[in-house]
Amino acid sequence: MKKLFSSILFSLLIAVHLLHADEGMWIPMLLDQFNIDIMHREGFRLTAEDIYSINRASMKDAVVIFGGGCTAELISPDGLLITNHHCGYRSIQRHSTLEHDYLTNGFWAMSREEELPNPGLTVTFLKRMEDVTERILGKVNDTMSEEERDRVVREESRKIEQEATHGTGLKAVVKPFYMGNQYFLLVQKVYRDVRLVGAPPSAIGKFGGDTDNWMWPRHTGDFSLFRIYAGKDNEPAGYAADNQPYHPDYFFPISLKGVHPGDFTMIIGYPGSTYEYVPSYHLKMLVEDIYPKLIDIRTKKLDIINAGMNSDPKIRIQYAAKNAGLSNSWKCWKGEIRGLNKLNAIQKKQDYEYRFLQWTHEDPQRKSKYGALLAEYRKLYPEYSRYLLASDYINEVFFRYGAEAVNLAHYFTPLVEMTEQRADKDQINREVEALKSRCKSFFRDYNKPVDEKLFGAGVRMYVVNMPREFYPLALLSWQGKTGKYMEHVYGKTMFADSAKVFDLLDGFSAASVKKLQKDPAYALAVDVKRLYDDKIEPELRRLRVEKKRLDRLYMAAQLAFNKGKHLYPDANFTMRVTYGKIRGYEPRDAVDYRFQTTLNGVMEKDNPAIYDYHVPEKLKELYRNKDYGPYGEKGRLPVCFIATNHTTGGNSGSPVIDANGYLVGVNFDRAWEGVMSDLMFNPSQCRNISLDIRYALFLIDKYAGAGYLLREMKLIR
Ligand code: ARG
Ligand code: ASP
Repeated sequence: MKKLFSSILFSLLIAVHLLHADEGMWIPMLLDQFNIDIMHREGFRLTAEDIYSINRASMKDAVVIFGGGCTAELISPDGLLITNHHCGYRSIQRHSTLEHDYLTNGFWAMSREEELPNPGLTVTFLKRMEDVTERILGKVNDTMSEEERDRVVREESRKIEQEATHGTGLKAVVKPFYMGNQYFLLVQKVYRDVRLVGAPPSAIGKFGGDTDNWMWPRHTGDFSLFRIYAGKDNEPAGYAADNQPYHPDYFFPISLKGVHPGDFTMIIGYPGSTYEYVPSYHLKMLVEDIYPKLIDIRTKKLDIINAGMNSDPKIRIQYAAKNAGLSNSWKCWKGEIRGLNKLNAIQKKQDYEYRFLQWTHEDPQRKSKYGALLAEYRKLYPEYSRYLLASDYINEVFFRYGAEAVNLAHYFTPLVEMTEQRADKDQINREVEALKSRCKSFFRDYNKPVDEKLFGAGVRMYVVNMPREFYPLALLSWQGKTGKYMEHVYGKTMFADSAKVFDLLDGFSAASVKKLQKDPAYALAVDVKRLYDDKIEPELRRLRVEKKRLDRLYMAAQLAFNKGKHLYPDANFTMRVTYGKIRGYEPRDAVDYRFQTTLNGVMEKDNPAIYDYHVPEKLKELYRNKDYGPYGEKGRLPVCFIATNHTTGGNSGSPVIDANGYLVGVNFDRAWEGVMSDLMFNPSQCRNISLDIRYALFLIDKYAGAGYLLREMKLIR
């Protein structure tokens, strides 16, 4: 009996342990130490050294940061890269015009000569990483102010970075982990000639659009192909027509065998940020204050942009990428609120904090070090929330995500300052040229009526949702006449009119400054910037410094409190490995989601009347003929699958790797019920969504007729 009891207990313990085996974004260099046994138990057949090694080629050599915020992986010895369609979106959009609308129709290079260069696009390899904690923390002590500490850490980091790269052409960054309780040096190599090779039409690559975004079941062919080019020596080089395809140290073989429930999967990529160790106050702030307000204002803005896009194909191209960006976080916030509420996350954190507090009180030293932390957080958060919201709101209404003409005007302030301070001619000319190139890309994607509506809606919401002390001067002086004010700005400003702006820049002189200063959008931009610089930024900075100190201490305390468990560090856009299993889930009572979607589901969603669900005729024909070749399985063509890997923004485009180290998919999203995984992971609901690699191969081969690309890949049948 006793034996039976203990074996039940034992299996319960294992079960609890396994439930959580999927949570975590692990440091590649430390897999050997902390993870590899669990990974083997879950089915992985290779070694930690196969994933990360500095002595020989390993998987890490085939995974890159793509641009500024995605992941991509090498799939051929000739530098061929696969990433998501939404990661290549900007590049595809920039090559698109009404005549050559690659966004709508897709693009396929039929030879290397046809591959399209993308100035500014880079890919970044990780050469090696190194724990530099001792060196950094050896320079600081507890009597330093936060500012001083920051400065010392920054200085020592610069030194380490310089030593690591001196004379090598490499790049290095030192990054904090565990909120500044640990530091790693990352040595990187950046390639700058990256060309577009292929992209399916949006009707495939973005199938389901923002309606299906963040949702399962999903049928999006979310991939695009690029190629890295290098100089003759295989080293990084700026674009040159005669650069050579880059030959990587490693690339992923591709398995055609597919995935099945229970299969081990692993993802190597660049998760951006997570907030797993924040106090309950943080969740409360997001769920109750920040997210609801941001959701409201974005709902308005998206309505305006969508109406514009539906009214005119030109506006559709111009606003496609902007819309996707705005809509993506808007929908994610909504999902996070739901997911956190369903998890009872705030209560869970509070219970944890209660236990934590008891633990701190068990020991006088602990008590003096950590005993007041939560009380300090409690004091900090209401203030922090207030300024954070103001800052977010300013961004939503006037700056980065807001009225476009006002945002553009804001870029002219340095030019005005330079002229007023009589900077030398060359400097001014350079600034004018830089502005011209900014304006060129700005007006390419600009529609005045849409922007004017965005401005109107934004200002109206600003007046209602922000306290008066955060009103920019112009709004104060036109108070009660907001409608008139809005007409005034868009009726008079030059920043909504390309010809006027270029007139000014082409003939720029000291006199132009007067003209700029009289412009109402410019005046507003200056007001808002002053408001931000005087009233918001200093407070926010002070609060952030304070919060950073608390975060570091609270993290250290939590590491001690959870002794015996290995906690993973929050994501910080460094390479991480996450592993899990292919598995469906139960999103609501009585509903079972299976692990895989197929082309049949694409056809079920087909609806020519709805833009997001308009299946291209050619795909329908392939479906009717069931000509799936080696890519199908039991008469169906797999499209997407889900698994329990812990991922976040930045992991898009990451390789999904099977137990043998073969590529089986490309990660691109998470399922709606689990998007709160950035704040709290729920093993029963959190699923990452991947494109089945066989769908990509099918599209390249049968849809695009670019089967020649498959010849450079290594296919495992
Ligand atoms: N939700 C995914 C991620 O966060 C995909 C976003 C792109 N797709 C879209 N329909 N906006 O990036
Ligand atoms: N779609 C995200 C990305 O672009 C991935 C995610 O948030 O799951 O990185």
